[in-house]
Amino acid sequence: MTDRLQFKVDNHHDPLDYPSETFDGCFSFQAVWPFFKKEGLDLHAREMYRVLKPGARYACSEYLLTPFFDWDNEKHVALHRLILPTLAATQSMYPADVCAALERAGFRIVLVGAVEE
Ligand SMILES: C[S@@+](CC[C@H](N)C(=O)[O-])C[C@H]1O[C@@H](n2cnc3c(N)ncnc32)[C@H](O)[C@@H]1O
Repeated sequence: MTDRLQFKVDNHHDPLDYPSETFDGCFSFQAVWPFFKKEGLDLHAREMYRVLKPGARYACSEYLLTPFFDWDNEKHVALHRLILPTLAATQSMYPADVCAALERAGFRIVLVGAVEE
């Protein structure tokens, strides 16, 4: 397996250091979208799309806000302030914003789900 796996440490706020159309697929687990401000979503989504081969799939499981989270609700905001550091996250995006950025980059969204209580 070691001949097929490579680990690379990099900063996902920089352009991805791979040629276009390199990968057959991509998966992220609580490692991408909780670190991007809304204005940074498009740039990274485009980079992901660029390094994937045509027809490749991207799947992720990421800490995102429930669509019911309300930034104008004091209780929501207080809870968010408590929880965010425990997630080692820096940002909180709505799934709709991430999906919209992915679609603008060229992805077609086939499934969006949420962890139920
Ligand atoms: C919640 S941890 C999840 C790690 C791993 N995916 C897992 O499930 O165990 C978030 C990870 O994102 C990484 N991370 C944070 N900011 C990053 C950045 N700018 N570029 C690359 N990775 C980053 C952190 O180093 C951390 O390893």
